[in-house]
Amino acid sequence: MKIHHIGYLVKKLDKAASEFEKLGYVRMGECTNDTIRKIDILFLEKDGYVVELVSPNAPDSVVSGLLKTYKNAPYHLCYLCENLEEELGRLTGAGYVQIDLPTPAPAIGGRRVCFLMNPAIGMVELLEQESPEQR
Ligand code: NI
Repeated sequence: MKIHHIGYLVKKLDKAASEFEKLGYVRMGECTNDTIRKIDILFLEKDGYVVELVSPNAPDSVVSGLLKTYKNAPYHLCYLCENLEEELGRLTGAGYVQIDLPTPAPAIGGRRVCFLMNPAIGMVELLEQESPEQR
């Protein structure tokens, strides 16, 4: 697995993006509205690091509860997997708890992502290398 991005929770996506730009980050494409998870997403890059800004666009979004707990803060690392099912099986066998089913992520070309929780390190995201249609 390779690190793909750092997920960063923010209340206001536009405001956060312009602050990251002041720090030298560059926007990677446009903001994506993920209607499945009810969140807005924007990727930014600096020095080879990719930061994913995530903000809720509805009160019942998947991150609304998290935002109350964490405020504006990084909250997950995402790992690129050659074989999503294989890594999922390996990690759940090693004590990670899968918290959703692999679901296409519109912000990442429809490739499937899946989230896991670990009591010692919190949330982890897995991203498949290619969508099922690309294989
Ligand atoms: Ni992510």
